[in-house]
Amino acid sequence: MKDCEVKIFEDAEKLNTAAADFFVESAKKILSKQKNFSVALSGGSTPKSLYQLLASEQYKNKIEWQKVLMFFGDERCVSPENEQSNFRMANETLLSKITIPKENIFRLRGEIEPQKSAAEYEKKIKQTLGENPCFDLILLGLGDDAHTASLFPETDALDEISKLVIANFVAKFSAFRLTFTFPLINSAANILFLATGEKKSFAVKNVLTEKSEKFPASLVNPQEGKCFWFLDKPAASLISEKK
Ligand code: 6PG
Repeated sequence: MKDCEVKIFEDAEKLNTAAADFFVESAKKILSKQKNFSVALSGGSTPKSLYQLLASEQYKNKIEWQKVLMFFGDERCVSPENEQSNFRMANETLLSKITIPKENIFRLRGEIEPQKSAAEYEKKIKQTLGENPCFDLILLGLGDDAHTASLFPETDALDEISKLVIANFVAKFSAFRLTFTFPLINSAANILFLATGEKKSFAVKNVLTEKSEKFPASLVNPQEGKCFWFLDKPAASLISEKK
């Protein structure tokens, strides 16, 4: 089991530039040897700036969007118009601003019955990427409770070892969330965590020092792939540089 590589940046702006460069380089490398570049986007607020940067004049023409297959690592059980929707956030900041074919965007449907949506999405992933799907890049965030995607502490999804996408009941929200499971995440070729801000510093320290279901993001460690953590200084304030 390889450890994750941790990179610490002065501030969120420098982190996002590095993340955009990482995205461009990963796409170029993968597309030099295969037809498509499959990506799963993360939700929440952290990646907004990265998505806006990728959609900017500075970056958008560096990526062959028509060869990118865009998926979502998790979704709230709401309609795509809802302000809580991860799809809405990604669409507003990135997808609506780049020349990606509509058929290359695979939305995780939050507006239908959760179990049905999870099964439908798993089927769609397998139809597109094969029976043992291996995403070229999965972007992940980190909650201050050390969750990632919608793999929250003390939820059933943490123990899922066969399904690739499930509806996970999260008691603290009294709601289901749709999420990739560890088997799917840990099969990725590249995983990039983005975490910024002081609020995340305890979760970062816990996740990078103890592999435990108490800290779900600590259980992300691809067997074959590579795992990177991009942190700004405030988020990294409780860990030493040498990780
Ligand atoms: C979601 C995300 C989730 C997110 C973390 C961090 O649906 O909310 O997928 O895992 O990455 O909660 O969220 P922030 O970036 O808003 O702090």
